[in-house]
Amino acid sequence: MSKQYHITTFGCQMNEHDSEKLAGMLENMGYLEGDSIDTADVILLNTCSVRENADLRFFGNLGRLKHLKKENPDLLIGVCGCMMQQPHIVETIKKKYPFVDMVFGTHNLHDFPEMITESLCNREMNIHVWNEHGEIVENLPVKRKYNTKAFINIMYGCNNFCTYCIVPYTRGRERSRKPDDILNEIRELAENGTKEVMLLGQNVNSYGKTLEKKVDFADLLYEINKIRNLERIRFMTSHPKDLSDKLIEVIRDCKKICDHIHLPVQSGSTRVLKLMNRQYTKEHYIELIEKLRKARKGIAISTDIIVGFPGETEEDFHETMDLIRKVQYDSAFTFLYSPRKGTPAEKYEDLIDSQTKHKWFDLLVKELNAISYKKNLSYEGKIMDVLVEGKSKTDNTKFSGRTSTNKLVNFSGDALEGDKVSVKITKAKTFSLEGEII
Ligand code: 5AD
Ligand code: SF4
Repeated sequence: MSKQYHITTFGCQMNEHDSEKLAGMLENMGYLEGDSIDTADVILLNTCSVRENADLRFFGNLGRLKHLKKENPDLLIGVCGCMMQQPHIVETIKKKYPFVDMVFGTHNLHDFPEMITESLCNREMNIHVWNEHGEIVENLPVKRKYNTKAFINIMYGCNNFCTYCIVPYTRGRERSRKPDDILNEIRELAENGTKEVMLLGQNVNSYGKTLEKKVDFADLLYEINKIRNLERIRFMTSHPKDLSDKLIEVIRDCKKICDHIHLPVQSGSTRVLKLMNRQYTKEHYIELIEKLRKARKGIAISTDIIVGFPGETEEDFHETMDLIRKVQYDSAFTFLYSPRKGTPAEKYEDLIDSQTKHKWFDLLVKELNAISYKKNLSYEGKIMDVLVEGKSKTDNTKFSGRTSTNKLVNFSGDALEGDKVSVKITKAKTFSLEGEII
């Protein structure tokens, strides 16, 4: 019987896609994806360090693997991803979790097959963590989780150094893939049935800055828009400071680009934005939203917001409340500020007490949810194009898919994964829509 693997992924889509590459490498080595972690021969935990609770969840999960290793000494346990780029984490693993076989960082993904071989030959903890990135490694095998939609890295790393954020330290400096490598990957996928691509980068709007050839994100989108059989283009994440007029024109002109943009604002207070090193003002952000809505009528807008940044006052918080009312987001991810070791904000004084943070958080979420619901209500009675993703997770007699505006729709009727179907929206909820195929 083939050996089996199990991967647990924490964090963002970038990590999800890295896990798809790890799965691809494992399958090339003859492993198959197992149903259960208890019977796996290789277990990987792909970590995230963006907030403290992700760290804590990882250590909880890792601790629980100790008994599996005891029962099966041939089991290989690997830990990878953003947390491994932090020396204090690797030290903790060495000291407290000696049963781990492989530790590797975000710049060492391509070393993984070599590490497996090493770990099969010796019984030491094999650690591969480069501090800096090497050349971009192309053509790693990928085992994709979805058939209809695919993640595509267009760039790696980040140079923005928002003061709260660990990513520039764990993912390294910004570097872009060559346009031809990206276009060829997407062409091949589209020929094989992929309908939608999600272009991934920490700051896709600065794509191309590290390339010799003069090309920017807008140019890349024009080219992707021409690919035959591809129907939808999404991308994330866009940094407001680099959202140029040229890019807004592309969004206006390229019909395959979805009616949705994720544009993290983080705070509605220009003073806090400055402390965060975000390099835009509240007014500039609102102006961008107006331009986007003018270019693409009905474009859905989502965002990320951090509550309780050091030094944030009641007045700053009200600026954020004012902003969300003005922008009217379709959806938002809200986070309690979490200090990250080695970031500038970790040393900021004037920490916000937990009670205030939670009070603001609750007020914000309540208002955001009310806005999302109101936005969704405007869909009732409308007929929407939905790209079918499969059976609904909440009701297996139904299907689910997404509108171009990224609304999740659960609907009745007959459908096949990958089809684009017309769905009449019958009911709006805060986080999804219900409907029936017509
Ligand atoms: N504390 C809270 N939220 C954070 N994010 C990033 N770093 C932190 C932090 N230290 C949030 C930001 C970012 C999203 C992916 O995670 O809102 O856009
Ligand atoms: Fe972090 Fe800011 Fe870079 Fe996003 S743009 S990854 S928030 S440093």
